[in-house]
Amino acid sequence: MKAFIRTFGCQMNEYDSERIAYYLKNEGYSLSESLDEAEVIIFNTCAVRQKAKNRLYGHIGSLKRLKQKDPGRIICVGGCTAQNLKDTIQKDFPFVDIVFGTYNISEIGQLISKKKRVKQAICSIKEQGFDYRLEQSERPLPFKAYLPIISGCNNFCSYCIVPFVRGRERSLSADDIINEACRLSRKGVLDITLLGQNVNSYGNDLGSDIDFSSLLERVSRIGIERVRFMTSHPKDFSQRLVRVIRDNDNVVNHIHLPLQSGSDKVLEKMNRKYTLRHYLSVVDAIKSNICNCSITTDIIVGFPGEEEEDFEKTLDAVKKIRFSRAFTFIYSPREGTAAAEMEELVSPKLKKDWFGKLVSLQNRITYEENKKMEGKQLKALVECKSPKDDSLLQGRLYDNTIVLFASPEAVIGKMVDVKVKKAKAFYLIGELVGIH
Ligand code: SAH
Ligand code: SF4
Ligand code: F3S
Repeated sequence: MKAFIRTFGCQMNEYDSERIAYYLKNEGYSLSESLDEAEVIIFNTCAVRQKAKNRLYGHIGSLKRLKQKDPGRIICVGGCTAQNLKDTIQKDFPFVDIVFGTYNISEIGQLISKKKRVKQAICSIKEQGFDYRLEQSERPLPFKAYLPIISGCNNFCSYCIVPFVRGRERSLSADDIINEACRLSRKGVLDITLLGQNVNSYGNDLGSDIDFSSLLERVSRIGIERVRFMTSHPKDFSQRLVRVIRDNDNVVNHIHLPLQSGSDKVLEKMNRKYTLRHYLSVVDAIKSNICNCSITTDIIVGFPGEEEEDFEKTLDAVKKIRFSRAFTFIYSPREGTAAAEMEELVSPKLKKDWFGKLVSLQNRITYEENKKMEGKQLKALVECKSPKDDSLLQGRLYDNTIVLFASPEAVIGKMVDVKVKKAKAFYLIGELVGIH
């Protein structure tokens, strides 16, 4: 029996899809890349921007034809849009068999068996809960793994739907995390990413002394080749964390630190709880303590009330900080969030104009930063053949920058040394010089 899973959204959703894959496998399904041959189709959805929802509706609509061809097929919609819209998805698309929420993942096998017995559509959405079993996930690559350490979010940034669809923060027990990291290490995982919407608030709800820096230190001591983490919130990024990254070689020199805006007025309306000055002090502590630390970010343009001078402040901050990469978004109102009620909307034309300016500035910086890598010899984890050119392999540097190089396929899954030959706009071309 075949199942098809399509994942939208962030790493947390990718991890949830790995859990879904695990439960499906227990029911006897194997994953397929083909929609047509799949008996079970699962969309694991994201709700962070309106565009994500619109696109999803397009994708679900296109499944109607498959369902008509074979009514025995089971179509499931899970994830953040399911949690958000609940049974309205089935009102809009009556052929959707199962809607399941972000706390219902471990039930998916039972829901599918039930659907085979009953005729009516199933909508199973819990409003809270916690059903993680860290060893219960089916990872697509044997050498790389996500490891969630905290779920949910308490920050309620005014634009963001995540706290509404993922609930309050719940930290996993440090012992469970360490046990899982040890298990992954024994299985040969070389690159592990500790995941959370705000990893820096790890442990606040546990009532023990452990915080994120001490957890990171414990995970790093297991000796996995690379330990990453994301996302960090600038308001909670501690000096101690800077020291843990500096002092532990296998904690990668890469920090994803969303700025969102360079204007204090906008940051306040966003409820981010820091000023640009604070953000710059964190960047300064990182850059002055950790050699060659790459910083990446997220930025939103067109937030309600944002004016030309606010946008200019964002551009200035981007010029000053010189992020290796930035994920840039046009503000999208999400129903139920505080910002959705705000007035002084920025016109679509201005939003697009600002977005274009920000993207071209950041692209120039990314290229210039990539140029600085030319001539350097760096370690890369080889992941796969390059999707762009299958005569080359694709590896990832410490900060996730892609490097392409010629080599026999046998090095896939290994750490190699690569000499960077040429910088491209978004990736590097290198030459293999050694295998670990
Ligand atoms: N927890 C992470 C990521 C949250 S979602 C964090 O705190 O940074 C990823 C990114 O999507 C956010 O950083 C933000 O830049 C963007 N985003 C979230 N809601 C948005 C909205 N309503 N409109 C546009 N971008 C949004
Ligand atoms: Fe959303 Fe803010 Fe929480 Fe990130 S920290 S998930 S942006 S509310
Ligand atoms: Fe992630 Fe999107 Fe949900 S960003 S937490 S999948 S709303």
